[in-house]
Amino acid sequence: MGKISGSMPSPRGPGGERVITPPMDIVLATRNKKKIEEIKRITADLPITILSLDNFPDCPETVEDKDTFEGNAVKKAVEVCQCTGKLALADDSGLEVDALNGAPGVYSARYAGGSGGGNDIKNYEKVLSELEAVPAKKRGAQFVCCMALAFPDGKIETFFGYAKGRIGSEPKGKTGFGYDPVFIPQGFEKTFAEMTGHEKDKLSHRGKALEKLKQFLHSQPRL
Ligand code: IMP
Repeated sequence: MGKISGSMPSPRGPGGERVITPPMDIVLATRNKKKIEEIKRITADLPITILSLDNFPDCPETVEDKDTFEGNAVKKAVEVCQCTGKLALADDSGLEVDALNGAPGVYSARYAGGSGGGNDIKNYEKVLSELEAVPAKKRGAQFVCCMALAFPDGKIETFFGYAKGRIGSEPKGKTGFGYDPVFIPQGFEKTFAEMTGHEKDKLSHRGKALEKLKQFLHSQPRL
């Protein structure tokens, strides 16, 4: 029923505006189960069906070789959109530490070496060791997230979200993933990994980017 798919051009409203008709499938361009969980939780109130690359096992893994979050997010979204013929949403995110001149940045997932996001503990241990001599006041950092939404007709929309905070002196907490155990958001004395998922969503870079995406989707006629 009116799904955006394959080579069909997106339907247009009377003023030529894009019309998204529910129910709508959006394919997430990731296999990271924690990210899928967060995105599903934050978009739970939208009339959309979230699919992931697990539903499209033949889609190739995107090589994240761009030097900006936006570049990688757009590349992932476009490749998945072309492979599935469906609206695709990609997220590229990472941690920027002030005292490390913005590192690990786009290399967050593989900061301690290796490929992919399987080295969370080694990654944050590397950041902690690099900040060993840095006092609390100079341990500022931010998470950055760029979400890219690719439409089958070639249009792309991007949404950014930021979470400011600082790097603690030791890992604390067990929830979340990645650098959560060492990131203390501004105005708090506990790490993301000591928060519930819902608490983190209200503060997180991904939560903020997704709020912008939601506003965009709500602004589309008939959604
Ligand atoms: P991506 O999958 O290429 O976007 O890599 C993002 C990497 O940045 C992850 O593997 C984590 O190391 C880190 N990262 C991104 N978002 C978060 C977050 O919400 N919490 C903790 N680490 C994150």
